[in-house]
Amino acid sequence: MKDLKMNAEVISVFPNKIRIVVDNLEEFKLKDESLKVGSYLRVADNENSILIAIIENFSIEVNDEGIRDYIIEATPLGLIKDGEFIRGGDTIAIPPKKVEPATRSDIEKIYNESIELSRQFIFSRLSSNKEIKIPVDGNKFFNKHISIIGSTGSGKSHTVATIIQKAVEAKLGEFSLNNSHIIIFDIHSEYKSAFPNANIINIDNLILPYWLLNSEELEEILLDTGERDNYNQSSIFRTLVTENKKKYNPSHEKIFYDTPVFFDINEIVNAIINFKNETENAKCSGRYMINDRTYSLLADGKTNDESGIKLTNEERIKKYFEKELTFFPTKAQSITRGDYADGTLDKFSIRLQSKVSDKRLDFLFGDKSKSIKFEEILKKLMGYCEELLSNVTVIDLSGIPFEVLSITVSLISRMLFEYGYYYKRLRCRRNPDEKINNDVPILMVYEEAHKYVPRSELSKYRSSQKAIERIAKEGRKYGVTLLLASQRPSEISETIFSQCNNFIAMRLTNPNDQGYVKKLLPDTLGNLIDKMPSLSAGEALLIGESIILPSIVHIDKCKLPPSSNDIPYWDLWNEEWKNINLVEIKSEWYK
Ligand SMILES: Nc1ncnc2c1ncn2[C@@H]1O[C@H](COP(=O)(O)OP(=O)(O)OP(=O)(O)O)[C@@H](O)[C@H]1O
Ligand SMILES: [Mg+2]
Repeated sequence: MKDLKMNAEVISVFPNKIRIVVDNLEEFKLKDESLKVGSYLRVADNENSILIAIIENFSIEVNDEGIRDYIIEATPLGLIKDGEFIRGGDTIAIPPKKVEPATRSDIEKIYNESIELSRQFIFSRLSSNKEIKIPVDGNKFFNKHISIIGSTGSGKSHTVATIIQKAVEAKLGEFSLNNSHIIIFDIHSEYKSAFPNANIINIDNLILPYWLLNSEELEEILLDTGERDNYNQSSIFRTLVTENKKKYNPSHEKIFYDTPVFFDINEIVNAIINFKNETENAKCSGRYMINDRTYSLLADGKTNDESGIKLTNEERIKKYFEKELTFFPTKAQSITRGDYADGTLDKFSIRLQSKVSDKRLDFLFGDKSKSIKFEEILKKLMGYCEELLSNVTVIDLSGIPFEVLSITVSLISRMLFEYGYYYKRLRCRRNPDEKINNDVPILMVYEEAHKYVPRSELSKYRSSQKAIERIAKEGRKYGVTLLLASQRPSEISETIFSQCNNFIAMRLTNPNDQGYVKKLLPDTLGNLIDKMPSLSAGEALLIGESIILPSIVHIDKCKLPPSSNDIPYWDLWNEEWKNINLVEIKSEWYK
């Protein structure tokens, strides 16, 4: 009988590998299904355990009798014991009894039974068998940070779109909007097309008041770092900002430089100009030679002890806020330059004026940012505007001047993190037994994350790095999760990357990046990871706590794609010469 000599036999068992010899491949295969690297096998023992393994490689050996043997090496993934799949687990009892390709229902059982139906979030199918849907545990997936990595064109943006579209559609009841809240930082203006109903924020309607910037962010835009007189600049700037905040918020008991309350930036500009031009009575310090007709100056232009206006330091600052004053010029012996009028503030003053009046920075320093209320900004960022409630907010960063990109991202990220932080505090105060810290949790999506959180010490990245690192470290507790997409994982800050728990690793060709990703992932993955360079567009290695097994999947196509499709060069080049209107492009450029 045929069974006397088994067709397929396990010839060795190692902790992380099994070797199988097959003498008739046709008989071994399941009907209508081909056997591939990546296909699943089931290996049974005498004790009712079934080991599920994934084929790693395949070779042919010719034995002494000149007969061909097919050798399959496979990596064990886990055990089905008493009908339940356990990842990893003990290996099977030796010797194994029977090897067969796993059936579709074996595989479906593993994926489906691992996660309760109501928690299943499905956005991909098994790559080796597209009929098998791969669920992830929706709670675990969104509660831990997610990282999507892959070379250009591997399908990251489409994956982001698929995930978000499916999350927004999911509903446990009859209502039009579910309770998902997603904010996308869209650096290439790609996502408007994928989310036509989204709350779209761009340079034309973004209002981010300068007075919400923290000290580091403010100084990053306004101060000239690396200049020798920097200390003078920052110390006077700090004093003025603090005083101005006090002036506008008299009811606040304690106001510091960093307190996030209103101050008037134009008054700071006035004061800096006045300090830089200030002159003082040489004979009597504290008398400032302001030319506003209340002075007394001797007929010969000299001063006496009564010349100028006597002001305390506080009065002086208050007066300097009001407007740009004129001062009497310095005169040998009788009028001297003021404390700060030694030229060290000249450049700073020009820089400050040009920044504050820069049309491109209107979203920060313009009139609207003076009148907008804190809660209005948060509502806008979170899709809670009265006229449009929206699950998805797309923040189109393409028009934001490069020099303020980092602080824009940092300010928005910080505000949303703090929303989570204070909401938790409020909830826990209201109900000390509160189990759910935040019942409106949010997902923040950073496309091209290496641009905001690079592994770099450069000061221009510091603010966004800090803000996003904080979310990476603490966001989980407050209902603020990150989704980072990047082409260059090796260039992303390690602090952030190492906090990610769910990885969607798409085709990755750069060896540096591959090496870096390998280091971060568990070693039990064996050769799965070596598939990374050969994945096709839309294929990914899905790894993490939310999925029962690391799996090579094909991400479902999104309903509406982001505008990042490959450009059909060859088709276009084969068409007739097209004219382009460069003047029109220029006016878009200089808008
Ligand atoms: N799940 C998928 N199934 C089929 N094709 C896909 C899938 N995902 C992406 N593609 C195709 O791959 C191409 C590139 O996709 P995408 O723009 O998402 O890549 P990307 O990784 O974001 O690239 P970049 O890093 O340059 O932004 C697109 O033309 C898209 O049609
Ligand atoms: Mg992309």
